[in-house]
Amino acid sequence: MNKEELMRLAKDAAENAYHPYSGFSVGAALLTARGSVFTGANVENASFGATCCAERVALFSAVAAGEREFSVLAVTAMPCGICRQALSEFAPDLTVCVDGKDGMEEYTLSKLLPHSFTFDKEKKI
Ligand code: THU
Repeated sequence: MNKEELMRLAKDAAENAYHPYSGFSVGAALLTARGSVFTGANVENASFGATCCAERVALFSAVAAGEREFSVLAVTAMPCGICRQALSEFAPDLTVCVDGKDGMEEYTLSKLLPHSFTFDKEKKI
């Protein structure tokens, strides 16, 4: 599975977005270290805070299926901060491919989210 194929799956997934409030569809496709792909689309809610982004739909679906290691995420929009943090829990070195204005842009998650939060029990006060 190459990055272009993964982005194609992300675009296909965006077709299933539920976005009656924003009218903005997002699709994501997450490649696991074992070579499986999990897709997601944004799912909005009348209580706006209950909305879930495409990236987290894909990530949580993969984690719930037992996956823990990920190599590439393709997404049709730039991931928000919450999604960056959620992804960094499992894959701080993830490659993130974004469908930009002039084609595919490639980042590392650590570049998109330097100094992510990690839970340090020793420092808990
Ligand atoms: N959205 C995503 O799906 N992913 C992001 O990283 C940014 C935002 C969705 C949430 C909402 O349904 C719509 O885009 C507008 O914010």
